[in-house]
Amino acid sequence: MKILVVGGGGREHALVWKIAQSPKVTRIYCAPGNAGISEQATIVPIKANDLNGLLEFALQEKIDLTVVGPEDPLTQGIVDLFESKGLFIFGANRKAAEIEGSKAFAKEMMKKYHIPTAFCEIFDNRNEAVKYIRKQGAPIVVKTDGLAAGKGVIVCQTVEEAIQSVDKIMVEKIFGEAGNRAVIEEYLVGEEASYIAFTDGKTILPMASSQDHKPIFDGDQGPNTGGMGAYSPAPVVTEGVHEKIIEKILRPIIYSMGEKGRPYKGVLYAGLMIHGGYPKVLEFNARFGDPETQPVLMRMKGDIVPILEACMRGNLSQHQIEWDNRPSVCVVMASKGYPGDYEKGKIIRGLKEVSRMEGVYAFHAGTALRDGQMITNGGRVLGVTGLGEDIPRAIERTYQAVKKISWDGVHYRTDIGQKALCWL
Ligand code: AMP
Ligand code: GLY
Repeated sequence: MKILVVGGGGREHALVWKIAQSPKVTRIYCAPGNAGISEQATIVPIKANDLNGLLEFALQEKIDLTVVGPEDPLTQGIVDLFESKGLFIFGANRKAAEIEGSKAFAKEMMKKYHIPTAFCEIFDNRNEAVKYIRKQGAPIVVKTDGLAAGKGVIVCQTVEEAIQSVDKIMVEKIFGEAGNRAVIEEYLVGEEASYIAFTDGKTILPMASSQDHKPIFDGDQGPNTGGMGAYSPAPVVTEGVHEKIIEKILRPIIYSMGEKGRPYKGVLYAGLMIHGGYPKVLEFNARFGDPETQPVLMRMKGDIVPILEACMRGNLSQHQIEWDNRPSVCVVMASKGYPGDYEKGKIIRGLKEVSRMEGVYAFHAGTALRDGQMITNGGRVLGVTGLGEDIPRAIERTYQAVKKISWDGVHYRTDIGQKALCWL
C-alpha cells in the first residue's frame, strides 16, 4: 500500500514511524513532514491545509490510504473532498470534525445529550458576556468558539482578567472570526487526562490513556503550550473512570453525532478533568493528540493500518489492540521563547547517540536539514519518548536521552511524569 500522512509535527512522525512497521505498506509519503520524518517517508512539500494540492498529489500517486494529523484540514473538509474523488482517507469528515472546530457546537451537543462537562453559556455579544462574568465571579474560563491553534482557552483567576480576555477575543479579534462567539465556562478542579479512541461510528476501540503537560514550565507554571510532554497510561484513569468515559462520554457523543446526521468515523480525542473518580469533558478533538500520540503509539502492539482502514470501512468490531504493559514518557524539547516568538536555525547535537539507545526514540516536530546538519525549525522541536519497566524507569530513561541532546537555548520541563508517581 502507498500511504500519505498529512502534517509535519511530532504526532505525524509517530504516525509515520508506526505505519512504517506495517507489512502492508510499501511506500509512505508525508506532506509537509519534517527532517526526522524524511528518514521513514518521502517528504512532499505541500502544506497540510492546501487541500487541492494534496488531492492532486494523492490522485497522481494513486495513494491507497491518506491519514490526516492536524485539525485544520479535517475541519476544512479534506475527508469529504478525498472521498468525493474516490480516494480512501482516514479521519473525521467536515460535519463530524465540527466537534473540535466549534466549541459552542460541542458544548450544545454535550448539554443536549447529558454528557458530563463544565457548565457554560455561549455569547455572541460582548456586553452580555461581561454581565454574565460579573454575575458568576472568578475563577472562570473564557474560550474562543473556533480554532485558535490551542491558544483560545484562557483560565482567568479574576473577573477583570476574564473581561479583558473577552475583549481580546470578541472586540480585538486576536483569533479572527474564531472569536465571533465566546464560551464562558465554569472552572473545574481535578486532574487532567487525555482519552483517545478509534471509532467507525458504532464500535469504540480505545487507545491507552495518557496525560499531557500543557504549561511551559515545571509545576504547571506559565502560559499554556501545545503540550510539553506526556505519559501513558494515566493512572488517574482507573478501571472505574475508564468505564465512565466509555459509557457516559464516548458512547453517547458518537451515538448522538450519528443521530444528528454527522456520523463520526476516525479518531476522537476527549480532553478530561477527573475529580473524585468522575470525568468531565474539557474539549473534544477530531484527531490524535500531540504529544500524546508519541507515548501512546510507542506502547501499541500490532499493525495500525488495518485499524485505520476498519474505522472508515465500518468493521472495527473485528479488531482489538494489545498494549505494551510498560509505561512510556515523552519529553518535548522546545526552542527558547516558545510559546511566544522563538528562535530557529540552531544546530541540534546528540541525536546520533540517542538513536543508539534501547527503548527510546526521538520524534521530530520542528526540525530541518541545513548543509547536512539537523537544525531547529519550530517551537516544539523534538519529542523524546522512552519506555520503562515502570513509570520511574520510563522517566529515568527518557531524561537520560534528553540530556544527551542539546542546542543553544533549548528548553524542556524536568517534571514530566511526576504526577503519575503520586499514584504509586
Ligand atoms: P482545552 O483546549 O479546552 O482543553 O483547554 C486548554 C486547557 O485549559 C486545559 O487543558 C485545561 O488545563 C484548561 N481548562 C480548559 N477548560 C477548563 C475548565 N472548565 N476548568 C479548568 N481548566 C480548564
Ligand atoms: N495535546 C493536546 C492536543 O493535542 O490537543
